[in-house]
Amino acid sequence: MGMIDKEKCVAELFEEYKDAVLNAELPENAGGYSFVKGFGNATSSVVLVGEAPGKDEVLQGRPFVGQAGKILTHFLETAGLERDNLYITNIIKYRLAREGKRAGTLANRPASAKDIEFSAPYLKREIDIIAPKVVVTLGNVPLKGFTEVSGMTGINLKDHHGVLLEIPGESKSYLFPLYHPAGTIYRPELKTVYDADLVRLNEELARLNG
Ligand code: URA
Repeated sequence: MGMIDKEKCVAELFEEYKDAVLNAELPENAGGYSFVKGFGNATSSVVLVGEAPGKDEVLQGRPFVGQAGKILTHFLETAGLERDNLYITNIIKYRLAREGKRAGTLANRPASAKDIEFSAPYLKREIDIIAPKVVVTLGNVPLKGFTEVSGMTGINLKDHHGVLLEIPGESKSYLFPLYHPAGTIYRPELKTVYDADLVRLNEELARLNG
């Protein structure tokens, strides 16, 4: 499939996902649902999967902008990737929201098992359309959802971060789990680990492309 067809398929899938979310019985989400679609090169050989969009992403309609944009810049530089050669998305494509402390404001809430379970099959279909060589998950939520729908068992972040794992299926493709970079703010000791994993990813990509 060429770029135009892939973009069309991803756009159709996003419309289907939005309808399905609005008709599903999901946990209470304050303020209704604000959706953010995957973004980038639909023919990319690398797909980056985050957890869910935040406030800035909803405002700008793109994943990983605002504060999280810094995360992305660091990711690209250390993994040796060009922004134009990346497709970036979130497993959950709506902001996970609860009422904020001040009236009328929203705060982020953690993903529930239901949110993950509901969105994971759509992520799988999105990735099947893009058909990248490597899927990079950021943090536990996309790792859990993606491995569950891909028939990969026994994978966890603690043991498998920074490790290239073959995804079962006909097309030879790989999963590369990373910690969520935002987690390194609360656990600074993870920053060194996260950066070393990115260097590993750079090496693995060079090897796969070589
Ligand atoms: N964090 C994520 O996991 N996804 C985004 O889109 C932004 C921040």
